[in-house]
Amino acid sequence: MIPTPTTDLPVDAIALGAADTWARPDRDGIFARLRAERPVSFHEEPEFIGFPKGPGFWSLVRYDDVVRASRDSDCFISGRGSNIGDLPIELLEFFGSMINMDAPRHTKLRKLVNRGFTPRMVAELEENVRAQARRIVREIAPAGECDFVQEIAASLPLKIICDMMGIPEAANRRMFELSNVILGIGDPEYGSTMDVLMSAAVELSQYAQALGEERMTSPRDDITSVLMQADVDGDRLTTAEFASFFILLVVAGNETTRNAISHGMKALTDFPAERQRWMADFEGVAPTAVEEIVRWATPVIHFRRTATRDVEIGGQTIREGEKVVLWYNSANRDERAFVDPYRFDVTRTPNDHVGFGGGGAHFCLGANLARREIKVMFEELFRTLPAIHVVSEPDLLFSAFIHGIKRMRVAWTPPGHLR
Ligand code: HEM
Repeated sequence: MIPTPTTDLPVDAIALGAADTWARPDRDGIFARLRAERPVSFHEEPEFIGFPKGPGFWSLVRYDDVVRASRDSDCFISGRGSNIGDLPIELLEFFGSMINMDAPRHTKLRKLVNRGFTPRMVAELEENVRAQARRIVREIAPAGECDFVQEIAASLPLKIICDMMGIPEAANRRMFELSNVILGIGDPEYGSTMDVLMSAAVELSQYAQALGEERMTSPRDDITSVLMQADVDGDRLTTAEFASFFILLVVAGNETTRNAISHGMKALTDFPAERQRWMADFEGVAPTAVEEIVRWATPVIHFRRTATRDVEIGGQTIREGEKVVLWYNSANRDERAFVDPYRFDVTRTPNDHVGFGGGGAHFCLGANLARREIKVMFEELFRTLPAIHVVSEPDLLFSAFIHGIKRMRVAWTPPGHLR
């Protein structure tokens, strides 16, 4: 059994809203202490330049509490924001689309966009996922080493979203830069001030509105056309709604999957016996290995809800209007829900992790697509570069929201026929 990580911070000194906390190496120990000693705790909010300091937030760190709040979307709503800081309502929808909505609007929009994510639509993408993963791996194969994040993991999800939405090749690079700006807010390397962030979102939105308008009049074989033509009970997407959904997809579907693949590569290097078990029976082990990678990585660290009434959770009363943060990273290491949670186990069963959310109305729309991308990427890597392994410590994104790796070197022996 791998021992639970520790921290020397006493529970009263833990401040989840403070930037310093997220720079500490004992993050897992901090959450383990909260789970054990204060499963529902209150924290001051960080200050965002240009915004008044918010009232603070409650933190749910145990698996059962995260699942319960996720599934009770009458009591724990998303319409007042799904990140810790507050934004004006127009901005919430502009940036977050359905992730910042509640029933009945959320239900209506989700019904409309589901058209683009049915199992059949996702199965149709499989061929492209495979072709793109193969191209990425074969192109880099002769090099013998590279930065895994930029050269391998980042290329696939973005390319799939761009192809799926009908975005031409020439615009792919720009989409990549803009999504980095939006999700890198807080990390000094990306220099994301609120102005830079807004202009990136406006650029994405303008691009999407033009694309949506074009597909409304001349549909093609892409999801943008399906969405712009979809009609549910007389409702259609406006181009503004489409643009916000597009921003959500570019950010939600891109960095998350990239980070799952990168953390997966690191775990498969750190746990060579697990890698051997997967490589020995790729198809048989893939379903559980992919879930374990998502649990292990937990690419989205938290989402927030707001209580609509006084409610008791984990023995603590939360008042109407108070913010409640669901820490997926902690729930996915909860020793009450997972046996030996700090062990990476490619055949872990059961594995009801909350990496894609706790199973409520907002459960990740792209979960099946992400699972396929992770599976196919490792299949292509194992086939062409079976010895690939991480050779540098990952350079982590500074963020309490995205568990991101910015850079991580990998090396392998180039296969003879590709050298
Ligand atoms: C490993 C990769 C991914 C992870 C870890 C992930 C994680 C999440 C999480 C935690 C949520 C919120 C769940 C909740 O509040 O209950 C979410 C929502 C969402 N995700 Fe993902 N996601 C991934 C990939 C994708 C992909 C590939 C797409 C689309 C191309 C996508 C689209 C969405 C959308 C649209 C929502 C909002 C759903 C709603 O509000 O109803 N995600 N995701």
